[in-house]
Amino acid sequence: MEKRELLYSGKAKSVYTTDDPDFMVLEFRNDTSAFDGKKVEKLDRKGLVNNKFNAFIMSKLADAGIPTHFEQLLSDTESLVKRLDMIPLECVVRNVAAGSLCRRLGVEEGLALDPATFELFLKNDDLGDPMVNEYHARSFGWAEDVHIARMKELTFAVNKVLKELFEAGGLTLVDYKLEFGLFRGEVILGDEFSPDGCRLWDSETGEKLDKDRFRQGLGGVVEGYEEVARRIGMSL
Ligand code: TMP
Ligand code: ASP
Repeated sequence: MEKRELLYSGKAKSVYTTDDPDFMVLEFRNDTSAFDGKKVEKLDRKGLVNNKFNAFIMSKLADAGIPTHFEQLLSDTESLVKRLDMIPLECVVRNVAAGSLCRRLGVEEGLALDPATFELFLKNDDLGDPMVNEYHARSFGWAEDVHIARMKELTFAVNKVLKELFEAGGLTLVDYKLEFGLFRGEVILGDEFSPDGCRLWDSETGEKLDKDRFRQGLGGVVEGYEEVARRIGMSL
């Protein structure tokens, strides 16, 4: 597979075309951003750690029957993926209250949510990724009902697999964000799964080991990600 030209550069990843129109190369950069791009820093090794973390998780999800765009690792910071037609929505599942849910609803961080809750956000930095509902998605043509139903089903299926995986490493999967796209009409998991897009707490101490370390200026961001990787049996 030959890497061709830069197609798109996001806040943390760049996307390249290949000689096959069905595939793209994702490059995980060291750039780290939060608050819709208002806080940006380069963190050593982050691209490598997230690339390998994502490959590990996507493979576990594929083993569990969840369709993903991930094909293979190409280098320390690059992966080959299927080229999806992205749906501009972010699917969030929350097992424990944190982040924007606490600010919006005035609940305390750490409140267990049983059953887990589901939210949709519009992918739009200029608007601050506003929360939207399924009727908005339909009226504005962001996604069809059948696709939303499938995204929801897959997002909860991911929860079952990953809650257990992290629990075995002494970690609580607090919440996470997934993005989906269409490949030959089928809804497929795209983007990435890494500590940039989820919250993971030490189950005993509650220590934060995800991007909240960056958002809250706690330091040791990549070290936190590496600690998670070690605990789930990944080699870096
Ligand atoms: P929130 O508490 O800020 O709404 O985020 C919930 C989870 O989803 C958290 O793990 C961060 C992740 N997330 C992103 O990674 N990017 C986003 O644009 C949004 C809205 C959430
Ligand atoms: N909303 C996500 C975060 O806070 C991504 C972003 O802000 O750009 O990490």
